[in-house]
Amino acid sequence: MEGRLINSSSSLPDTKSAPEADSSVLQIWGGQPLRGHVKISGAKNSALVIMAAALLCPEDCRIRNVPLLADVERMGQVLTTLGVRVERQDDALVINAKDFSTSKAPYELVTQLRASFFAIGAILARLGIAQMPLPGGCAIGARPVDLHVRGLQAMGAEVQIEHGICNAHLHGNNRRLQGAKIYLDSPSVGATETLMMAATLADGETVLENAAREPEVVDLANFCISMGAKIQGAGTSTITIQGVEKLHSTDYSIIPDRIEAGTFLMAGAITGSEILLSPVVPEHLFPVIAKLREVGIPIFQEAADCLRVAPASVIKATNIETLPHPGFPTDVQAPFMSLLAIAEGDSLINETVFENRLRHASELNRLGADIRIKGNVAFVRGVPMLSGAPVRGTDLRAAAALVVAGLAASGKTTIKGLSFLDRGYDRLDLKLQQLGAKIQRLSEAEAGADFAPLSEN
Ligand code: EPZ
Repeated sequence: MEGRLINSSSSLPDTKSAPEADSSVLQIWGGQPLRGHVKISGAKNSALVIMAAALLCPEDCRIRNVPLLADVERMGQVLTTLGVRVERQDDALVINAKDFSTSKAPYELVTQLRASFFAIGAILARLGIAQMPLPGGCAIGARPVDLHVRGLQAMGAEVQIEHGICNAHLHGNNRRLQGAKIYLDSPSVGATETLMMAATLADGETVLENAAREPEVVDLANFCISMGAKIQGAGTSTITIQGVEKLHSTDYSIIPDRIEAGTFLMAGAITGSEILLSPVVPEHLFPVIAKLREVGIPIFQEAADCLRVAPASVIKATNIETLPHPGFPTDVQAPFMSLLAIAEGDSLINETVFENRLRHASELNRLGADIRIKGNVAFVRGVPMLSGAPVRGTDLRAAAALVVAGLAASGKTTIKGLSFLDRGYDRLDLKLQQLGAKIQRLSEAEAGADFAPLSEN
């Protein structure tokens, strides 16, 4: 089958590249109920880390159900610069790290894509040395990597951070990382994934205590196990990895994206629609389904991998606290805030995972919402109706929240910041169009919208 090699000059087919996306906007005429079935793509936060894990194996790895995202393209470019072959074949990637030799990841790519930093564990495990630029902060917070670094040091790596580069190498004449018992101060998804990858080829047993339990962590473990890794306990707070000498090729399909599914559940709920979503893994969405039912949104499991959301007579207020899995996912907090903006009554949202992930509130207020922020808490007073306006997405999930709100707002909403959206959603506007939404992607000039400056909060 003819594939498409991903390299530094390639760009995503049929969606805009980042610069074009930045000058494009989404225009939505709200109030249109949705109907039909939406296909949920593969999970972004599985795809990115599993692409990094393919570095552990010197043979072909086929990864299926990989979403078409700017971040996936960018991760492919990071791997390519490390000497890895990355080929897109329809919904699959074929990755071969046989000739993977360069331990120095490209600064400009890594600083744009935090997930690429997680590859440090795999690079170190394969080559015994890694020079990885620090991912740096982003719109939602400082995003430090101290838990990743401390874990690698516990496994026998020397790690120095200078000039924004994380330089890691094995001690003296150690040929491999050493298994270790590691306690994570907080159940960091990325640190759990970095250390799990490093441990698969380490000498001896590694135990990760207080590990993250997200479904994407389990997906990564299952991918590594399919290559011959020995991992137990993924999905619990204690993960045990017995290091092996070598891993072998695999053909693996990643899980559906629970965050994309949660976003579409919000889109159906806020527009009073009946839509079907599949494939999904319902238990990955239990916290989201529970809170939606609590506010009065009927949700039905139509099949093992299919959910149906139906219109609610009233959308009630509630309180939400974002937490590590199995708590309410921080990545669905912004779209849920859009829904609560038109609930009956006052809601409270406490964002406990990231220190600056409420910036979408001020943009929702431009659409007529009544939200006040105090520290990491949003006080949302429900209003009867939102009204369309020009707004800007400040990060990936904030942009998604504005799309969800625009679907319900009366009149026209114009949304800037599509380079964020294209990072994490596989053709969101096309999927919404197919559900009947009046949404289109235009150049800023065609849209003729004037955007007020972003408010700082
Ligand atoms: C992953 O980020 C996801 N990204 C995020 O999704 C998600 O929001 C997050 O997990 C939480 O679920 C990918 O998987 C690529 P963390 P990650 O390490 O691994 C602090 C999206 O929208 N921390 O669990 O970076 C950190 O600052 C993205 O798809 C440390 O202090 O998240 C944060 O406050 C956004 N030191 C908290 O832990 C560390 O060494 C949770 O971060 C690592 C993290």
